[in-house]
Amino acid sequence: MSWKDIYNQKLVSAEEALKHVGNGNRIVVGHAMAEPSYLLREMVRLKDNYLGLQVCSMVPAEAPYAGEHLSKHMRLNSLFLGGSTRKAVENNEADFTPCFFSEVPNTFSCGALPADVAMIMVSKPDKHGYCSFGISVDFTKTVAEFAKVVIAQVNENMPRTHGNTFIHVSDIDFIVEHNEPLIELPRPKITEVEEKIGKNCASLINDGDCLQLGIGAIPDAVLMFLTDKKDLGIHSEIISDGVMHLMKNGNINNKAKNFHNRRAVVTFLMGTKEFYDFVDDNPEFELLSVDYVNDPRVIAQNDNMVCINSCIEVDLMGQVVSSSIGLRQFSGVGGQVDFVRGAAWSKGGRSIIAMPSTAKGKFSKIKPFITEGATVTTSLNDVEYIVTEYGIAKLKGMSLRQRAESLINIAHPDFRPELAEEYERRFDHKLDYKKD
Ligand code: COA
Repeated sequence: MSWKDIYNQKLVSAEEALKHVGNGNRIVVGHAMAEPSYLLREMVRLKDNYLGLQVCSMVPAEAPYAGEHLSKHMRLNSLFLGGSTRKAVENNEADFTPCFFSEVPNTFSCGALPADVAMIMVSKPDKHGYCSFGISVDFTKTVAEFAKVVIAQVNENMPRTHGNTFIHVSDIDFIVEHNEPLIELPRPKITEVEEKIGKNCASLINDGDCLQLGIGAIPDAVLMFLTDKKDLGIHSEIISDGVMHLMKNGNINNKAKNFHNRRAVVTFLMGTKEFYDFVDDNPEFELLSVDYVNDPRVIAQNDNMVCINSCIEVDLMGQVVSSSIGLRQFSGVGGQVDFVRGAAWSKGGRSIIAMPSTAKGKFSKIKPFITEGATVTTSLNDVEYIVTEYGIAKLKGMSLRQRAESLINIAHPDFRPELAEEYERRFDHKLDYKKD
């Protein structure tokens, strides 16, 4: 049978496909902006047909399954939280499961959280009958290979990306055609504080470095200060529009990479339509599963690997809290520790945690102790550089006393006196900290 016949045989309405989801099933949904929006909206519309579904996701897009009062029908179990899922966990209408991003595929495939249904969004098939996972390969591809039932929304707006990104139509059980624009991530507004942080981080980056950056204002601010650099490369879990602009400008060309030379290696993408058009059929991007891209042993094979991530707070020993505000679960570990470890093992590698010195203009993010209930993301043994708008603290190789001193000197000046008091209590030594 030709692939076109197979495709037509599997083509059904959303309602028909969703009849193959059974009560109590665990559904793993395509990641981030590759969330199969139409299928999920339909599943929520038909909620009365279901009892006790568990919906697993990570970085959420619209996440309609996390809406209020749905948990009798479908309850979210998320491995990372974002704006559309945080409240459901706070209200105890959803659950959060901690997991390194690099281990997510294995968690779904090894039996810890086996997937009954993979609900994914893919590109339309190419001339050989292969659909592309497009902007999210991460764990989505693995889940589609292991789930008992695969339901795919085929969307002509999903780019066809290069790398290990394909699924043949014969490996999909139910195909639902529905075209809709991909959800976009608008470019962040960059404040003066973030600009200073970006400049400080950029001072740690050299020509030829291989970069991992998260998303948001700080990574974009760093990129703003790299326009005089050359031969930069990318090995990152995610990238967005900021990287595209430096690629178009010639600063990022992946030519100095000793590993996956001339390819930007990533596992998922979020950005604007311009960015999605840029990655479409573009062989400079290699999208691969997250258990490969984020494996610290793989990351470390890139020489001069520099990773830049952010956090909620840091204590005076350098313990980094990135995913919770006290007991309140805010996000997840994501790939932070994967990349901190990978950069530590890379020849010439560096890891940077960058953050504004204060939150909401009234809390210092550098604290004597981490907030009660918070969880440590990057340990004091792994941390290397902490950067704020006031400067750079190099913690690797530094004693607890030296760490506290350097951190106080990059804290907001309003909070330095009280941090210095704690230093003096702890180390029985008067600190001559910066007063600016
Ligand atoms: N105390 C109280 N509130 C704090 C706080 C603190 N120490 N630090 C931050 N906040 C609040 C902010 O005020 C803001 O609140 P708002 O949403 O009401 O405005 C919110 O927390 C988010 O802070 P912001 O600085 O805007 O966060 P961000 O979008 O830059 O994200 C992290 C920062 C740490 C949450 C994010 O980088 C993360 O989840 N990291 C872990 C995962 C990771 O590193 N992955 C790898 C790369 S993708």
